[in-house]
Amino acid sequence: MLLKSIHLENIRSYLDEKIEFPSGSTLLSGDVGCGKSTILLAMDFALFGLRKGELEGTDLLRHGKNNGSVEIAFEVEGNKIVLMRTLKRSKASVTQDSGIISINGREQELMPVELKSKILELFGYPQEVLKKNRPLFRYTVYTPQEKMKDILFDSESRLETLRKIFSVDKYGQIKNNAKLFMSELRSMKRENEAFTRDLEQKMSEKEERETEKERLMILLDKYIIEISGIDAVISEKQSTFDSLKKKMNEMYALKRKMAGIESELKIKAGRLPRIEKDINEVDDKISSLSVSDEVMDAVALHEEIKDLEQKKEKAVSEHAVVSSEQLRLESVLRNGICSFCNQRVTDPADFRKHLDEKNRICEELKKNMGFASVKITLLKERLQAAEKIGHEKKLLQEYVTRKNQLEAESNSLAADIVALRSELDSLTNQAGNEEELEKSYNSLQDEINTINRSRNETEKSKSRCEQQLYDIDRFLRSVEREIAEKRAAKEKIIYLNELINWFDVYFIPLMDIIERHVMAALQQVFNEFFQKWFSILMGEQFSVRVDENFSPMIEQNGYITEYTNLSGGEKTAVALAYRLALNKVINSMIDMIKTRDLLILDEPTDGFSSEQLDRIRDVIAELGLKQIILVSHESKIDTFVDNVIKIYKEDHISKVVYN
Ligand SMILES: Nc1ncnc2c1ncn2[C@@H]1O[C@H](COP(=O)(O)OP(=O)(O)OP(=O)(O)O)[C@@H](O)[C@H]1O
Ligand SMILES: [Mg+2]
Repeated sequence: MLLKSIHLENIRSYLDEKIEFPSGSTLLSGDVGCGKSTILLAMDFALFGLRKGELEGTDLLRHGKNNGSVEIAFEVEGNKIVLMRTLKRSKASVTQDSGIISINGREQELMPVELKSKILELFGYPQEVLKKNRPLFRYTVYTPQEKMKDILFDSESRLETLRKIFSVDKYGQIKNNAKLFMSELRSMKRENEAFTRDLEQKMSEKEERETEKERLMILLDKYIIEISGIDAVISEKQSTFDSLKKKMNEMYALKRKMAGIESELKIKAGRLPRIEKDINEVDDKISSLSVSDEVMDAVALHEEIKDLEQKKEKAVSEHAVVSSEQLRLESVLRNGICSFCNQRVTDPADFRKHLDEKNRICEELKKNMGFASVKITLLKERLQAAEKIGHEKKLLQEYVTRKNQLEAESNSLAADIVALRSELDSLTNQAGNEEELEKSYNSLQDEINTINRSRNETEKSKSRCEQQLYDIDRFLRSVEREIAEKRAAKEKIIYLNELINWFDVYFIPLMDIIERHVMAALQQVFNEFFQKWFSILMGEQFSVRVDENFSPMIEQNGYITEYTNLSGGEKTAVALAYRLALNKVINSMIDMIKTRDLLILDEPTDGFSSEQLDRIRDVIAELGLKQIILVSHESKIDTFVDNVIKIYKEDHISKVVYN
């Protein structure tokens, strides 16, 4: 970091003033109260903002002004940074507003806290000390005039800060974490101990169940053998039973068949007398028929009757014709006039002759007709008789056939009856003793039922036994899992014990040792620088070092001298040497810090003799920094530095003059 300029508006004794800082060594010189320290306070404010109890707004804002600001320009590793913060007076206090930071021309408005962390980041201060930022800046770059002696005496805060800066604190933190971790481990151990307390009990429960399991396995085997024995007996009995059942079924079938035959026999036996009765009736009918041997041809008779009837009809019609001619001739003869020509009959004899002829024909036709009628009647009687004989012959024939049928049926029925009786006899023999068969069937059935019941009982016992075995197995699986977990927990307890012991005996003491060693190394380096700077300032008449709290120890002429007993110049020399030693130790041991090029010392020579003042030249040369800003009203120092900025105050307003 190199400071370039600072612009103050309404800050303490300043109204509006810009101070440019060259590189090399620069002295801010001026009378008491001219405004030197104000420049440095303004820089502190610009960089880190207001801090309650340390840098209040009222310490900075010029009396009578309501607003003020500081703008600081500096370079960090080639980056040009401009930072401005403002102050505002309210009724009760003076507060800071948001500020503006410009990095290489890129402006950003940030809240005070954000600005501060941005600056710390730019300065490369370690994260661990971000919260305690100012000490690092104070120990290395700038300590306000009146705070110089605080560093020497506030051993607690200084030690804490140094431990943080040099990461020594982490050993304490590691130790605390280790202790926390140990208490976690102990609570884990206690949990595991509680968990494993019943391991023995679980193991004996497991043993008990295993013995019970063995007993049940033997019992189960016994049941299995018993059941298979019963099954063999059942299967044997069952096959006997099945064959008995088959026989029973066969017997029942025979019985059904026999019943069928018996009913058929009954029907047939009942039918036989009826057939015999029918035969007798037919015999009676046959004997009642007196069939003559005369053979009469009914068809020829029929033909003859038909022929005679035709002839008779012809004679009747001829008779009608002749009768009508007879009547006409009688009329002609009676009237004497021809009925055809209405002529008078001239020849009645001829007519009479005709009439006689006609009478004769008529008589002959009448005779023929009577003869034919008689013959027809006779023939019809004969035909009737012929037809009756034919009918009775037919009836006889039928009766004979019927009788023959009945006799055949009767014979067949008799034969059937004989056959059925013999079949029935044979079936009755075959059927054997039904009662015996049923008895042994039922008794075997009872026997099988009894055996089945006993099998069911054994099966139930077997199932109970299997259920018990299943429950035991389940229990064993769960208890084995538990035992395994508890054994693992036991192992874990051993491991936890080892771990706790390792932390207790090795790790935590080791952290103490490391911490002591690191602090001792730091102390040694610090002492070397402290003694070096003090020697430059005071010569070899004093020996200085720091104790384990980094409190200064001063030895003069073999005696430890209290700081308070030193002279003013000696006190200033101790404070300056301490401050420079701090600067060197921190800058040389923490690489990331980017503020090591700048050192600001406000009145470092208070109470110095002229000879001591001369040594400041050596200090500046020895420091060899790119930028040193010294504040002093010692005019002698003007000659030691590269640049002098003169400050004077006029009418309560500070002004700057460059030489
Ligand atoms: N709020 C303020 N308003 C106006 N002036 C103030 C205010 N606070 C302090 N001052 C004055 O500003 C002046 C400059 O003070 P400063 O501390 O900068 O002086 P100095 O040059 O460092 O003096 P010394 O050499 O004694 O250290 C002093 O006169 C001081 O009284
Ligand atoms: Mg001052």
